[in-house]
Amino acid sequence: MQCENKYMSSILSKDSVGIFTHGINIIRNMMKNNSCKIIPVHERPDLLIDCCKLINSEWPSSDTRRLRTLSMSCDSFPTCLVLLNNDNVIGHCKISLVPNLNDSCFIESVVIDFGCRSQGFGSILMKGTEDYVRHKGIKNVYLSTKGQEKFYEKNGYSICEPINMWDNRTEIISTNPVLTNKQTQIFSGPPPPPMPKYSSTYSPIITSKTYMIKQL
Ligand SMILES: CC(C)(COP(=O)(O)OP(=O)(O)OC[C@H]1O[C@@H](n2cnc3c(N)ncnc32)[C@H](O)[C@@H]1OP(=O)(O)O)[C@@H](O)C(=O)NCCC(=O)NCCS
Repeated sequence: MQCENKYMSSILSKDSVGIFTHGINIIRNMMKNNSCKIIPVHERPDLLIDCCKLINSEWPSSDTRRLRTLSMSCDSFPTCLVLLNNDNVIGHCKISLVPNLNDSCFIESVVIDFGCRSQGFGSILMKGTEDYVRHKGIKNVYLSTKGQEKFYEKNGYSICEPINMWDNRTEIISTNPVLTNKQTQIFSGPPPPPMPKYSSTYSPIITSKTYMIKQL
């Protein structure tokens, strides 16, 4: 997908002078913000197919399954948001509430169209998603990732203990080396809410994913 015209690219090309490039990047993102819009997909059913194609281009699955998930999007969660650039679907994420944790949501299936990556759209999607959930009273945003930690760190997320999205009786154990060495845990703000109590009668779920949190 063509995300910038030739004229913009020539003005906004990478510069070898770091400070100047930084300023250019800020202007670039401001200009993009004007052509970008984030909306819940259930407000634009005409975009369902494009959104389905975008998600399946990253994580192939049947259209039927994707469309079923997308069609569950609603104002009171789960909500699927789409990032539009000049009315083209270039990004998606799904937001769900976290069972047993107040004022908390979990973001998943964050994806930017392949041809539009590394141009700041991922950050625009995260920022827009955070604004959306903040207006709904959400205070903690959780997600899990394997490989995109740096992207989320740049967007203000810090590594946290795994959270339980299923029930409060199953323990989630992370094999993430950062969490196995407790001394290296870094939280940028106040401590996250207490974890739900687990019962030892259920087998734990072992995950190699990195869980991250941002407090809004
Ligand atoms: C992850 C993803 C959404 C990022 O979107 P993007 O539009 O490429 O990200 P941005 O251009 O907004 O990047 C923001 C910053 O994060 C950095 N970044 C992005 N991806 C990165 C990565 N994989 N490793 C290190 N840094 C990364 C960028 O360099 C940029 O840094 P800067 O502000 O210093 O320039 C996109 O690459 C994608 O859709 N990937 C495939 C799906 C996926 O893995 N989703 C995450 C599931 S957990």
